Amino acid sequence: MAIQLGDTAPDFTAETTEGQISLHEYLGESWGLLFSHPADFTPVCTTELGDFARRKGEFAKRNTKLIGVSVDPVESHRRWSNDIAETQGQGLNYPLVGDEGRTVADLYGMIHPKAIETATVRTVFVIGPDKKVKLTLTYPANVGRNVDEILRVIDALQLSGAHAVSTPVNWKDGDEVIISPALSDDEAKKRFPKGFRTLKPYLRLTPQPDK
Ligand code: BEZ
Repeated sequence: MAIQLGDTAPDFTAETTEGQISLHEYLGESWGLLFSHPADFTPVCTTELGDFARRKGEFAKRNTKLIGVSVDPVESHRRWSNDIAETQGQGLNYPLVGDEGRTVADLYGMIHPKAIETATVRTVFVIGPDKKVKLTLTYPANVGRNVDEILRVIDALQLSGAHAVSTPVNWKDGDEVIISPALSDDEAKKRFPKGFRTLKPYLRLTPQPDK
């Protein structure tokens, strides 16, 4: 069965561009972004993995470690990194699993045979410090991912995990958030000293709580 939200992210030990890594040990207390791409030396993947590398610092600010996967060998990843550096301004600076045996791809359901028979599609798994899967995304080969959106959802997950809030449509860091309908108005006044406005009893908005 496909991996679902709330499942423990399956652990694995695999060869990567940074040596042998066990996922849970690598992540430690951090959040994790595990993602797959279809193939090395392909155009969309080159732009995506370059942007993940350029923006590693923005993930680090969110206590989030990156790890990528494809069914290409590690030696191919290393050669491709030179092209990523040349064309995107930053080569690989996070581990990329060489999953020739498809162990990780099968564990995470990263191969969607009706889309691509022999390679991983563009999957994203956000993993919390408790090793639970918090969010999944799947894109076809011809649509590149949006790193701003991935950072945005990590912000939303971390905020909603720390406070009794949810994020409304198109929310971005700094915007108002929704107070959990489970909280009474009295409780909400105590927990959200910046105040809140009530549009409906179930829709109360408050300035973003301090992180
Ligand atoms: C790409 O990254 O551009 C790509 C990879 C695999 C299939 C199609 C496109």
